[in-house]
This record gives sequence, C-alpha cells and structure tokens, in this order.
Amino acid sequence: MDKATANFRSHFPALSQQVYGKPLVYFDNAATSQKPDCVIEMLERMNAEACANVHRAVHRLALDATDLYQHGREAAAAFIGAPADEVIFTSGTTAAINLVASCYTRVNLKKGDSILITEGEHHSNLVPWQLACDIYGINLIVTPLAEDGTLDMETFRHQLENGVKLVAVAHMTNVLGVENPLREIIDTAHAAGAVVLVDGAQGIVHSRLDVKSLDCDFYAFSGHKIYAPTGIGILYGKRELLEQMPPYMGGGDMVDRVSFEKTTYGPLPLKFEAGTQNISAAACLAPAMKLAREVQENAALQAAAEATERKMAEQLATIDGLYCPSIANPLRRGIFSFCIEGVHPADAAQIMDKMGVAVRTGFMCAEPLIRKYSEHGMMRASLMPYNTPEEVDIFITALKRAVKMLR
Ligand SMILES: Cc1ncc(COP(=O)(O)O)c(C=O)c1O
Repeated sequence: MDKATANFRSHFPALSQQVYGKPLVYFDNAATSQKPDCVIEMLERMNAEACANVHRAVHRLALDATDLYQHGREAAAAFIGAPADEVIFTSGTTAAINLVASCYTRVNLKKGDSILITEGEHHSNLVPWQLACDIYGINLIVTPLAEDGTLDMETFRHQLENGVKLVAVAHMTNVLGVENPLREIIDTAHAAGAVVLVDGAQGIVHSRLDVKSLDCDFYAFSGHKIYAPTGIGILYGKRELLEQMPPYMGGGDMVDRVSFEKTTYGPLPLKFEAGTQNISAAACLAPAMKLAREVQENAALQAAAEATERKMAEQLATIDGLYCPSIANPLRRGIFSFCIEGVHPADAAQIMDKMGVAVRTGFMCAEPLIRKYSEHGMMRASLMPYNTPEEVDIFITALKRAVKMLR
C-alpha cells in the first residue's frame, strides 16, 4: 500500500477491524461508504454539545446547532457549485427524486406527455416516475444501454421527439459503474424542451461536479455514499423551477404565515423542508464534503486508486467463466458487477463473507437491467480511494476459493 492511501485509510476506524478473525475487506462502497473520524467526531459533537432543534429558539444550544446545520448546507452547496438556497435537505437520493416526481410533475406535466429514463436506472429513479405516470396519465419511455453500459444516444435523440418533458438519468449507474455523457444529454434534452434530473447517488462519489456549468435542472445525491452519515441527502434545483413547484410536505418550518383560512410558504429551501430534519447528519456534511474535496485534489491518492482499480480489472479477467459487462468500458469508475458461470452470486458472497470480504449481490435495486445479464442477480465489488491493492489480492483469493467450492 502506498503512503497516500495508508494515510487516507487511517482516518476510517471501521477499516481496521477484523470479521470472523480476518481483516475486513470492505468492497460494498456503492451501498454506503465507511465514515471518517472527522464525521464521527461531528456526529458525537452534535449529540454531546449542540443537541437542540434548529431555527426555532434563541438559546445558545439552538444557535450552535443552527450554525452547524447551516455550515453543512453551505459545504454541500459549495461542493456542487450551487447557491445554498437552491440546496434542499432530504433524507437521501430517493426522497429527493420522489419530491421532484411529485411536485414538478404535478404542475408541469399533463396527460399524454412523456418522461424519459434509461435502462440503467436504480429503482429510486424508476419507481417514483411510474407512480407519477399512473396518477397523471404520463408515458414512461426507456432509453436502452449497449451491452457494456454505454447509453444509446441515437435512440435517446429520437425518443426525445415523442413529447418528452422530463429526462431522469443516472450520473453513473450503480450496477455497471458507467458514467453517462451528461453534458450531451442535458444539451440535447434542453434543445428539445425537456428538463433534466440527474440521479447523482454514485456519480457524486467518482467525478467532480459543477451543477451550474453542467446546467442540469435537478441533481440528487445521498450523503452516506460520500463519507457522511445515513439520513441526509441533497436535492439541488434551479431556483425558478423550485419556486414554481408546490411544497412536498406540510408542517413546521416550511411556512411564512399560517391561519385556518390560508397558509403561505417560507422561502427556499425551507419551503421543501417540513418538520425537524436530520440535524446532526446535515452538520456532518461539512467535514464530509471537505474530505471529499481533499480526495479529489490529492493526485497521489487518485493515482493509487486508479492503479488499484486497474489491478482489480486485470485480476477479475483471470477468473474462468466470469463475465463483467462494463469491465473494458473507459467510462466505468469504481464499480465491478459480474456473473460467474455455474456459481450463484449469493452463495459465493456468503463464503467470501466468512473470509472477511464484504460484497453486494442480487438485483441491486436495478432489477430490469440485471435481468438482462442474469436471472440470479450479479455480484458487485465497489471500491473507494481507501481500498488497497492488497485487498484486491484477498478479494480475488476469496472469490477463487468460493468458485472452486461451488462448481
Ligand atoms: C444510482 C442510485 N440512485 C439512487 C440510490 C438510492 O439512494 P438512497 O438509498 O441513499 O436514497 C442509489 C443507492 O444505492 C443509487 O446507487
């Protein structure tokens, strides 16, 4: 392991533990990342020293909690290049997409209009649109992916002509790990009169983002996949769109004036944040985003992470009967999903778990895509910059042993 990786890794206490007496090899990062000590400390501080509700009281603890909460919002906004009031706290990517599917669709789409998604979407960027389509009589159109996960842009362009008012697309797919050509998608969709929501749950982790220069209309991501705790997510939306949308939920903190006759709503982002939010998790976005930026700017760490990924790709290719559709796709980042002839992925993962190796198997909340490759689901190994070449060796040895036992 090189020095940059060793130093970075030392900030994640969970990574030095043993499971079943074996060193943990955590390759399930696309499900959630491990948490660094700066985030663990902030969570502790929020509960030990600044435990109060935000915005509501004038006492010291409430003021401290409100400041730390607001720093979390500012940090998330700066990380994606957005103004803080266009950054709405949600519980995660799923909640953010549901908000748009409910509120944007209600006032902007009508019966007979179309929403376009891709074949590679996570259920979170598929089911909310199906729900909206059922309510409003909207059509759902799906753009296919090539075998290696590349979006079929020619079909996408044709499909846009069918009354598409909204495009909802993953920045990077959670199964194949392939980055979509966002710039081209957004420019083409805008030229056809459609707005674009980007599901950034995976993309935010692996590529640098500036929502203003990208010109996406909405961008959703979850804190927990990028070093922050679970229960906090971000919905970025362009101000003019957020302002014309009705609130998602009603309750405390999202109002301006309330009477039994009529209620008026607060300014952005409060209009979309009814009730008490996950205050401590939101505050943790400040250290999490700071760390994520340092990772992006650390050339030695990036080079080491790329070398570890290359090693993983080379080693996987040596396993007889293993098929990883996106392995050679130059736009794949961090994620390897594969099937192995004659081996059920769930059985292999159970054996590997006993050797300390954590991976994900099954349909990974992207059932329509995975069924294209396998009826039994796939195995997914997903890496972060704290993973090492030595862990790749352990993973490959464990996988080969599991395959040998099961064939
Ligand atoms: C591409 C993608 N979209 C959406 C989600 C849902 O994220 P969350 O469960 O944090 O809301 C995930 C989670 O795995 C994902 O990978």
